[in-house]
Amino acid sequence: MSILELTEEFDIHLNHNCGGVCACSTCHIYLLKGEAFVEGITDKEEDFIDRAINPKLESRLACQCIILKDQVEIEVEIPDQRRIIGHEH
Ligand code: FES
Repeated sequence: MSILELTEEFDIHLNHNCGGVCACSTCHIYLLKGEAFVEGITDKEEDFIDRAINPKLESRLACQCIILKDQVEIEVEIPDQRRIIGHEH
């Protein structure tokens, strides 16, 4: 399961305009803790992160963060999404 899928399961709003296929940057998050427990970043993901609003070292795309283990602690911050066009997706 990805962090994006987790937000949906718990009814936490997070944009995902491309539907979770690493073709936009609207599911941009900051992964503050637990990097070792999610799939590593790919070149394609890095390219789209560069297009996100205010990218940082801890930036990831939530749809690409597949959680690799159960019972681990992962901490995520969702940046302000109001500047994203179509932010109600
Ligand atoms: S939803 Fe588009 S890259 Fe994650």
